[in-house]
Amino acid sequence: MTFRDLPKAFDGFKLVQISDIHAGSFDNKDKVLEGILKINALHPDIVCFTGDLVNSEKEEIDPYIDIFGQIQAKHGKFAILGNHDYYGRYDKNDPKAIKAYHDDFGKKYAKMGFDLMKNESRSISIDGDEIHLLGVENWGAGRFFQKYGDIDLAAANVPKDAFNIMLSHDPTHWDEKILKHERHVHLTLSGHTHGFQFGFQLPGYAWSPAKYRYKRWLGLYEEAEKFLYVNRGFGFLGFPGRIGMWPEITLIELRSGEVVG
Ligand SMILES: [Fe+2]
Ligand SMILES: [Fe+2]
Repeated sequence: MTFRDLPKAFDGFKLVQISDIHAGSFDNKDKVLEGILKINALHPDIVCFTGDLVNSEKEEIDPYIDIFGQIQAKHGKFAILGNHDYYGRYDKNDPKAIKAYHDDFGKKYAKMGFDLMKNESRSISIDGDEIHLLGVENWGAGRFFQKYGDIDLAAANVPKDAFNIMLSHDPTHWDEKILKHERHVHLTLSGHTHGFQFGFQLPGYAWSPAKYRYKRWLGLYEEAEKFLYVNRGFGFLGFPGRIGMWPEITLIELRSGEVVG
């Protein structure tokens, strides 16, 4: 992807995105490890994981911490929470219980070497140039989804003219908030739709029932030089498989240049 204002030192920077791991659905460690080895073979500069680590309980990831800990990225591994990462059995009305659950959950991300961002930002520097990662909590449309994502909080320490990449689990956040926000977010990475784990893709055309539920459900979208990429997901949920909507590891190489896209 090419951007006019990408800092020059980031020309050729390799970003790998994974999403929707849903660890509680896994039953084959070797197959999961195969995916990890594919990620490492891409030699990413950073890895961004865009949420839904588990189906409901944080312990689902325990048997796979060592495996996801093997992901290697030169400038770090970053993560956000998806809607499923709040579904655990803890008292949602008790601030102490919420804190205890999510503190412990956060330790699991740390064990895997992932830097979990909750409405926070991180900067990455190369040769004096800088880009910023903004990681928001889940924000989904409709009353069943959390609306914890807060761009203002996430961008609080980010300079106004920065080059920004946002991690936001649910792509509806892009239309509802990110696109309209005064902060120019160059690229937003999302997941959540799974492409409904069913559909088909041809060069230049894709179809899935997901399109009737989500306006932005797969691949790359652009409005006013702001981009959204929706990843199909690494794992699965419910239906134990995928038909025509295969698991995805996304490699995005950043380029600086005049032609944007
Ligand atoms: Fe998901
Ligand atoms: Fe989700």
